[in-house]
Amino acid sequence: MPHHIDHPLISAELTRLRDPDCPNQEFRQRVRRIASLMVSAVTADLERTVVPCRTPLEQTSGEEITRPIILVPILRAGLGFLDGFLDLIPQAAVAHIGLARNEKTLEPEAYYLKHPTPLGESELILLDPMLATGGSAVHAVTTMLAAGAKRIRFACLLAAPEGIATLQAAHPKVPIYTAAIDRCLNEKGYILPGLGDAGDRLFGTI
Ligand code: PRP
Ligand code: URA
Repeated sequence: MPHHIDHPLISAELTRLRDPDCPNQEFRQRVRRIASLMVSAVTADLERTVVPCRTPLEQTSGEEITRPIILVPILRAGLGFLDGFLDLIPQAAVAHIGLARNEKTLEPEAYYLKHPTPLGESELILLDPMLATGGSAVHAVTTMLAAGAKRIRFACLLAAPEGIATLQAAHPKVPIYTAAIDRCLNEKGYILPGLGDAGDRLFGTI
């Protein structure tokens, strides 16, 4: 089962975001706020290491996150999710993967990939607001595994049941975190009720 991050602040932001009259600037701000509100749930089970820690009064022990974190926005729309994550995980490195869904076949077409190396010791968080057919998410996870990643989680804003099933079938060990699970896809592969084309709404390309 995906982790459905059900929180009143996220739900209220999401409701405003779905509105077709929500302007691009407001849309970007709301996506960024939702991303930040999701960070704590998405990272809750990251492994920690006990380290020595000094206070002004005495020596004690504290904790560090064991592995480096790499945020991986799926271009373009994943960029809308990135700053909200970076606000709370500023030390993260950022890898980029460029995928565009072919409007006829609905298959993802890859056009860019840049990531730090090696990936094997890091925790990767794939970011994309929309999990629709699941084709882009499966392609992104497969690509990062082939590049050497061993620990991957996937965070999105809206997930369709079809996309969840496809991603889980292809990569059952990748946990999915989503702010909402919508009803279904329409005949053009858009999420219903959804919010339309996330990339276009983020970047004003409608
Ligand atoms: C959108 C979205 C996902 C993908 C989801 O991107 O941001 O990456 O579609 O659809 P899927 O689950 O059916 O693969 P799009 O390909 O439209 O590119 P964009 O981000 O540049 O708008
Ligand atoms: N991509 C989007 O941006 N929106 C959808 O509803 C489906 C895929």
